[in-house]
Amino acid sequence: MPTDRSLDKARDLRQVSFYRKYRPMTFGEVYGQSKVKQTLQNAAAHGTAGHAYLFAGPRGTGKTTLARIFAKALNCLQPAKGEPCNQCAVCTAINKGAAFDLIEIDGASNRRIDDIRELKERIDQVPSVQKYKVYIIDEVHMLTPEAFNALLKTLEEPPAHVIFIMATTEIHKVPATIISRAQRFDFRFLALDEIKASLKKVAQIEKIKIDDEAIELIAEQAGGGLRDALGLLEQAHTFTTGQIDSAELTNLLGLFDLHEIVAVMEMVLAGRGKEALQAVGRFYNSGHDLTLMLATLSRYLRGLILLKFGESSRLSLNDELTAKSAAQAKGLRTDQLINLVKKVIEAERQIKLVAHRHLVVELLVLEMLAVLEGGAVATVPDISSRPKKVDGKVDEAELLSTLKKINNGFNLILNGAKLLSFEDNELTIGLACDMYQKKFKEHLEAVHALLKADFGLDDVKIKFEVIGFAKSSEESSEELAKEVFELS
Ligand SMILES: Nc1ncnc2c1ncn2[C@@H]1O[C@H](COP(=O)(O)OP(=O)(O)OP(=O)(O)O)[C@@H](O)[C@H]1O
Ligand SMILES: [Mg+2]
Ligand SMILES: [Zn+2]
Repeated sequence: MPTDRSLDKARDLRQVSFYRKYRPMTFGEVYGQSKVKQTLQNAAAHGTAGHAYLFAGPRGTGKTTLARIFAKALNCLQPAKGEPCNQCAVCTAINKGAAFDLIEIDGASNRRIDDIRELKERIDQVPSVQKYKVYIIDEVHMLTPEAFNALLKTLEEPPAHVIFIMATTEIHKVPATIISRAQRFDFRFLALDEIKASLKKVAQIEKIKIDDEAIELIAEQAGGGLRDALGLLEQAHTFTTGQIDSAELTNLLGLFDLHEIVAVMEMVLAGRGKEALQAVGRFYNSGHDLTLMLATLSRYLRGLILLKFGESSRLSLNDELTAKSAAQAKGLRTDQLINLVKKVIEAERQIKLVAHRHLVVELLVLEMLAVLEGGAVATVPDISSRPKKVDGKVDEAELLSTLKKINNGFNLILNGAKLLSFEDNELTIGLACDMYQKKFKEHLEAVHALLKADFGLDDVKIKFEVIGFAKSSEESSEELAKEVFELS
């Protein structure tokens, strides 16, 4: 029978988040960041620490963790080769967060100059217990300019017993004067394997039953940060009973299946726009969160960019998907990929603002097709064709088929479009929805060029009306509209 005390203790431990519970205590326990670890451990071993350090890098990659380990290593009463013992009075105090000479300042909440002034006053007091007084200033980029100036003065002539460790996720916001006075270390995203190893270890200790595929999925989802990875594992653990498998996890975390994304990309790359739109319709109808779909798509495309530069995609993919994504990366030029990512990011922004989410994704598909065709302008000049305007009239079918030349995406926008009127050099076009109108307007230059080349029309004024999807005149486009849009 466990005693009350031990039960309490166990309960406490359960309540501490994984990421805190599994904060590494030694350099050896830290994943990745090998150069940083090595340099700091050497400095601690040889007593050659500098006075100011700047840890820069993404969230949850070990900055605060290594700052604390370094502080321990410098002050430990019985260090071994630069590693802290985690047993002595100093180490235990730091581990408990109760060390008097380790001062952690959050730049976000101590932004004012007064706080830094106070810091300066306290700095001159020699450490009470430890060899060094260590100041960890987190989110240092959040300090006000005045506070920065005050800090700068301190950094210029720090007392011998003081060490500053500044940490930031936004190095570009830290003044050059500060950067130049500190030893800078750049923290990197952790590799997928490192994250997987860490997750596996925690799962083992916590006796969580989770299969490899689910581990991969979490690691992939965390995008290089270990805190997020541990957070996801904890979430999965809290909400499932028994074995955690990837299907359950996909559901639970609301993830979007990468297979679907890869398949849609295949359609887009092959110019099979109709199929891609139908796939989007299916996602929508089956209740998938399209916002998540976009997030997954953008992560996937960024993965392709990395692949293009010979790095690992940072996506956890099985062999089949690895092969496919490698092929897709190869088939795309870098500028195309960048444009695709830009379009997706824009769609991610837009989807938060509109009610008809599926339209945003459908439009995105059209835009992606356009990007892959090399953009509108390149396909415009087809001046060889004869003028199609007869006696000041423009024929609807002629007009639409001419405009369809702009690109594949435009072609789809024009399905169900109507020429409502053409009077006094003013052309009124009916389009299915607002989004299509917006899209149309992006190509106005190309449209005008075509109107001039094919119809001999100059300076035509173009107006729009929204006529909805179903009112298609052509058989074929009605069919398409049905297939593509009524689904959703
Ligand atoms: N490199 C790493 N090795 C092992 N665990 C890590 C590593 N990076 C992060 N972790 C885990 O994530 C938690 C948070 O890490 P830490 O506080 O060091 O991140 P950080 O880089 O300071 O992030 P932030 O910029 O958000 O402050 C740690 O307690 C640990 O569980
Ligand atoms: Mg931190
Ligand atoms: Zn110690």
